[in-house]
Amino acid sequence: MDRWAEFSRSAKLIGIGVSEIIRIGAEARKLAETHQDVISLSAGEPDFPTPDNVKLAGINAILTNQTRYTALDGTAELKAAIRRKLKRENGLDYAANEISIGAGAKQVLFNILMATLDPGDEVIVPSPCWTTYLDMIRLAGGTATMVPCSADAGFRLSPKQLAAALTSRTRWLLLNSPSNPTGAVYGTAHLAALAEVLRTAPGVGVISDDIYEHVLYDSAPFATMAAICPDIKPRVVIVNGVSKAYSMTGWRVGYAAAAPDIIATMAVVQSQSSSNPCSISQVAAIEALDGPQDIITERRDAFRRRRDRIVAGLNAIPHVHCLLPDGAFYAFADMRTLLARPELKRKDIADDTALCRYFLHECHVASVPGFCFGEPGYLRLSYAASDRMIDDALERMKAGVERLLKY
Ligand SMILES: Cc1ncc(COP(=O)(O)O)c(C=O)c1O
Repeated sequence: MDRWAEFSRSAKLIGIGVSEIIRIGAEARKLAETHQDVISLSAGEPDFPTPDNVKLAGINAILTNQTRYTALDGTAELKAAIRRKLKRENGLDYAANEISIGAGAKQVLFNILMATLDPGDEVIVPSPCWTTYLDMIRLAGGTATMVPCSADAGFRLSPKQLAAALTSRTRWLLLNSPSNPTGAVYGTAHLAALAEVLRTAPGVGVISDDIYEHVLYDSAPFATMAAICPDIKPRVVIVNGVSKAYSMTGWRVGYAAAAPDIIATMAVVQSQSSSNPCSISQVAAIEALDGPQDIITERRDAFRRRRDRIVAGLNAIPHVHCLLPDGAFYAFADMRTLLARPELKRKDIADDTALCRYFLHECHVASVPGFCFGEPGYLRLSYAASDRMIDDALERMKAGVERLLKY
């Protein structure tokens, strides 16, 4: 390695790269420069625009010069709007010093892990999971304990698995419901059963990544640990944001609700990295949280229709199996039977990465291989796309698989 290449990567970064999902998105965009028909089902963001009232609030923030540094971990006004949201939607009371705002839920998660993990500390992560968790835990000096959760168990962690994964070094259980990539949802009973185990481990906290709270198709209302088990609330950190619920991925606003001590140490991390989240985005986020909420149900209904469409279409492809997800906007399709076919082996398509590449380059459909989420043999397809795009993508994938199976 030459000297500069060596200087440009510290030991902390060994084994950590740019997120595979971001890399695939870039590859799909590059392919689209020469092929206009590329359909990207790899991104994790709603295809709907930010609501007009929210955009106008952002424009107004610029026109009224709300363009300076703000309080380090968010303005008092946005903290108040978040507290109102947590009370209204989750029945939870938090004080202003129990809220921290960062540049997206992603930064908030990073702050929590950087602020609390010492070398060797363990974080239990039910898998399949958003792989960013694993890299962040590693960057923060901790160790991720991945616990495989099977499709038969609804991709959910059982109390027995949780009990078996706990050690004296366990610091956090990281729950994500609805889940990226499986859409699995932990209901009240599931959370209560996990809490039973947590009561035997008082030093273990829960990071509850609720970012897909509003993309939920279950008839039962959204459940989050702090609300279901008030005795556990002091050791729960809720992570949420406006990205997915209000189509505001580019505005970068996420938040945490937790005990004041953690909020204070998260502020230390943020003060030495990015400082305050964008002042304009914070004003827009207040409008998102306090303004009309009908958009949430309208968009959820659209996602539900698309979910039904994509899952039916995937199951109509030979040797592909896909469960109906209860939340989020991803179909997590089981490709293992297809990948086991001799016709694919003969064509050197031996795993989910090769299949993902085939679909991208031969069918012009971008997806994400399951290995990115700790579950090789699967593909994740985002259905945050129009009906037409979903239908076209499915048609091309079906034809692509039929071609593969021909000889
Ligand atoms: C599970 C999960 N948590 C958190 C995030 C981060 O969201 P934000 O845009 O608020 O950083 C994502 C984004 O894809 C996600 O999938």
